Amino acid sequence: MHAVHQLEEDAGAPLIASPLPQTSGLSIARRTSDINLIKMTASASDIAEIIARSIAAIIGVGPGTGRAVSLRFAREGFSVALVGRTASKSKSIEDEIKSIPSFQGKVASFSADVTQESSLRKAFSDIREQLGDPEVLVYNASGFARGGILDLKTADVEGALRSSTLGALISVQEVLPAQVKNKKGTVIFTGATASKKGSAGFAGFAIGKWGLRALAESTAREFGPQGVHVSHVIIDGVIDVENKDIDGRIDPEGIADTYWHLHSQHPSAWTFELELRPYREKW
Ligand SMILES: NC(=O)c1ccc[n+]([C@@H]2O[C@H](COP(=O)([O-])OP(=O)(O)OC[C@H]3O[C@@H](n4cnc5c(N)ncnc54)[C@H](OP(=O)(O)O)[C@@H]3O)[C@@H](O)[C@H]2O)c1
Repeated sequence: MHAVHQLEEDAGAPLIASPLPQTSGLSIARRTSDINLIKMTASASDIAEIIARSIAAIIGVGPGTGRAVSLRFAREGFSVALVGRTASKSKSIEDEIKSIPSFQGKVASFSADVTQESSLRKAFSDIREQLGDPEVLVYNASGFARGGILDLKTADVEGALRSSTLGALISVQEVLPAQVKNKKGTVIFTGATASKKGSAGFAGFAIGKWGLRALAESTAREFGPQGVHVSHVIIDGVIDVENKDIDGRIDPEGIADTYWHLHSQHPSAWTFELELRPYREKW
């Protein structure tokens, strides 16, 4: 670590008073300034190989946020695991990632339903076997039960809760042991307006999203001190899922930029929660 500190001083960056939670050569490459340090001492192919060993698992991959975040981490050199129920959806994103000229990592799709514990645990077991332990987990799947309080069916609400919250609990249980062992990891949960607001007619969504936020907070408090950065991002607006550049909607690329930034943050200044909304959103 001393050599790293010395290099930082040489590069004009302030010395870090206490050691970073990460200690391996690979783990110090998570910040831009660290990558610049490694560039001073390693060849381009070494750097590409180091970063390609990092794996991001995106749970809930569709054309909006899931696609944009997967592409963003792939462009940054990560290997990517895409998890969803529909193979054709993730396959087309897999093909897009493979066509990124600079992409040197691996990408693979895993079919799973997050509401089914055995299905989701099997997906993580396959991810570990085919790609390795995820350094980054983005939990993006969610469920919605329609109706007012008097109309809600308990089975539908249970399904929403399983998608939005229990699937997230299972997912963090699958990735945290290796992240703690490696002393590095990022977990990002995708929230919504309903994460903090139970609107009339939206209980069947808000119950799951509030639960997700509670899970995020508890996970951050328990695992932050063990070197895992946990964030919850409230998406307060309508996402431009079809990427039609609709003014007043949230561009998924903007969300992906934010997720990459969260992953790249210095451990002495981690963000737990962010709210993203379009400039025109009334709130
Ligand atoms: N869209 C919005 O306007 C909006 C606004 C605020 C917040 N959000 C939140 O943002 C996140 C991403 O939304 P998005 O619209 O951009 O979606 P997206 O990333 O384009 O796609 C999410 C994907 O999750 C997968 N998924 C859903 N249920 C699943 C299940 N039970 N098991 C496995 N995969 C499942 C679906 O794919 P399969 O059908 O193939 O499984 C879906 O395409 C969600 O958490 C959502 O609540 C969305």
